[in-house]
This record gives sequence, structure tokens and C-alpha cells, in this order.
Amino acid sequence: MTLRLGDTAPDFAQNSTAGTINFHEWIGDNWCILFSHPRDFTPVCTTELGEACKRKASFEARHCKIIGLSVDAVADHERWSGDIEETQGVALNFPLLGDADRKVSDLYGMIHPNANDTLTVRSVFMIDPAKKVRLILTYPASTGRNFAELERVLTSLQLTDKYKVATPANWTDGEDCIIVPMLSNEDAKEQFPDGWDEQKPYLRVVKQPS
Ligand code: BEZ
Repeated sequence: MTLRLGDTAPDFAQNSTAGTINFHEWIGDNWCILFSHPRDFTPVCTTELGEACKRKASFEARHCKIIGLSVDAVADHERWSGDIEETQGVALNFPLLGDADRKVSDLYGMIHPNANDTLTVRSVFMIDPAKKVRLILTYPASTGRNFAELERVLTSLQLTDKYKVATPANWTDGEDCIIVPMLSNEDAKEQFPDGWDEQKPYLRVVKQPS
């Protein structure tokens, strides 16, 4: 089954470096970023894991938990974590799922057989507190992901949910936003009493709400 935006994220129980993870229960009322990497003891993955550890507090400030996965065993993750700490200067501080049986990889379609039939690609699933999938990204094994971009999307999604604003191309936190097209002018007046810059009837620019 192909997962699509808006689908309920499949639940699972799987071993991790933090013990068994019952996924939905573990997410609780938080957002979650579930991401796969191809293999332990590989260079790009090592840098990604270090970067994710460094940004954990920023994700937590946005009520978002992070969890990684590869088709290696938990014992391998534990041995590799020493290398991550040594080379990236930060200790592993979030769970890594050991998915040697591919239970989660298959549920989430993280193995793309025509790219590689044994390793997971670099998948990212952003999941909201209602357990709905809100972002899906797939990167090739040779390209490390941009974790600042994940923070940016998370902030954008949370602004949309809370204030009914969308974010324009290349937007970064603090910049002007756009009133979502689904909000009528009448309803927008209540939401944005200070008004907006109407560049077109469908392009209504407002300061970022906070
Ligand atoms: C890496 O993490 O460096 C990597 C993994 C698989 C293929 C290419 C690079």
C-alpha cells in the first residue's frame, strides 16, 4: 500500500535503542518525524544522525519527537552510536528502530527495490498528533537531508493548523505568510483584525501570526 498525505500513519511495535516502541502510543499528543537511513556505519548517515541529535531540542520546542530507522539490528545501532558521538560531537539522544525484519520499512514503503532491494532509502514522514501523515520526502542514499528544511516545514504546518496561514516559496520563520484560500474574507477579518495586503483576491499577505 502506498502511503499518501492525510493517511493515518501505520502503527507498529518494533525494537529500538530505547526499547520496544509502540509507535502511536510513543507519539502521544506530539508531532513526530520518522526517518529512515540506508545503513549503519556509512558516512552520510553518520552526519545526518549527528545533525538530527543537534536539532532534537529545536524539534522538541515544536512538540515534535524524532525517531530513526534502518534495516540494521539494534546492537549495530548501539555500536555505531559511539562513532556518531566521536565524529559528530553529540551522543545519540533519540531512538533508532532496529528493522532487520523490515516490518516498519515495508509498512512505510521505505525500500525502493529498483534503487536498492535490501537498503532503505532516505525517507521522511512527518506525522501530526492525530497520527495523520503530513509530509513525505524521499531522498537518494547519496544525498544527506537538510534538517533545517524539516524544521521549516514543521513550523509551516503548525502555523497552518493554528492560524490558517500558508507559507510562500522560500519562506523562513518570521517572514510574511499568506491567508489560506479556503478562508473567506469575512472569516479572515476575524482572524486577522489588523487586515492584510491584498495583492490579488487570492493572494492575501499577512505578518506571521504568533
Ligand atoms: C552513506 O550514508 O554515506 C551512504 C549510504 C548508502 C549509499 C551511499 C552513501
